[in-house]
Amino acid sequence: MDVVSVDSLSKLYQKYESDLREVRDSQRAFLERRGKTMKAQLDDLEAEITYLLLRDHRPERVVEIGTFYGWSTMWILSALRDNGIGHLYSFDIVDKVVSNVPAELAADRWTFTMGDVRQHLDKIPGNTDYLFIDADHGARFARWYTENLFPAVPRGIPTSVHDVYHGRRPKPMSEGSVVIKWLDEHNVEYFTPSLAKAPEAMEQLTEVKRDLGLAEPVKKSTDNPMIFFNLPG
Ligand SMILES: C[S@@+](CC[C@H](N)C(=O)[O-])C[C@H]1O[C@@H](n2cnc3c(N)ncnc32)[C@H](O)[C@@H]1O
Repeated sequence: MDVVSVDSLSKLYQKYESDLREVRDSQRAFLERRGKTMKAQLDDLEAEITYLLLRDHRPERVVEIGTFYGWSTMWILSALRDNGIGHLYSFDIVDKVVSNVPAELAADRWTFTMGDVRQHLDKIPGNTDYLFIDADHGARFARWYTENLFPAVPRGIPTSVHDVYHGRRPKPMSEGSVVIKWLDEHNVEYFTPSLAKAPEAMEQLTEVKRDLGLAEPVKKSTDNPMIFFNLPG
């Protein structure tokens, strides 16, 4: 898969506009119903990009590390449902997600493992074809996954990591600084819609959404600190 760009994402927004509109409406309604009892972390652009890449890539086995209340889980499961193919393997230390994810969305396409993912490497399918990471934001955890998880999944698979760019640079001694250094050392390009790091990309995508009538926010925050890349081949 090519590295994500504003151009490629614009095409995906156009291609999947109608399905995306339905998922956005349903996610917004869920948030409104749940009010403050739902803690949702992914911002709209990064959640939508995740949905669009999953639609485009049509993975059979997606791994999600860090579910919390299940906001990203619901976005990912919506994409697998709309693809009509794919299973999600999620990991978290807390199991709040289990009671939150609607049964019809989980259906037979979801497996949740409770516990520290570092103790459950054997439960990550060796033929995973999409990797989503939004868990422990410390440097040690990032060193664990670059050294242990990345080599355990196929080369080249689409991967994303949350909470990297809340500012123009990742925080020192953080997950973000470790993963960005690792990507640089392996000559891997990445894309971010981060407001702080890539305001032009964010503005261009916001305009694409405006033109498609997708401007109404699902969730109010606009930091979008996630990075998207393909594991090196
Ligand atoms: C930022 S939250 C995830 C937010 C979620 N992706 C969303 O969109 O709302 C981070 C989650 O990672 C989990 N976590 C932290 N360290 C972990 C580990 N070693 N193994 C599994 N889960 C972990 C935490 O329990 C927490 O629920």
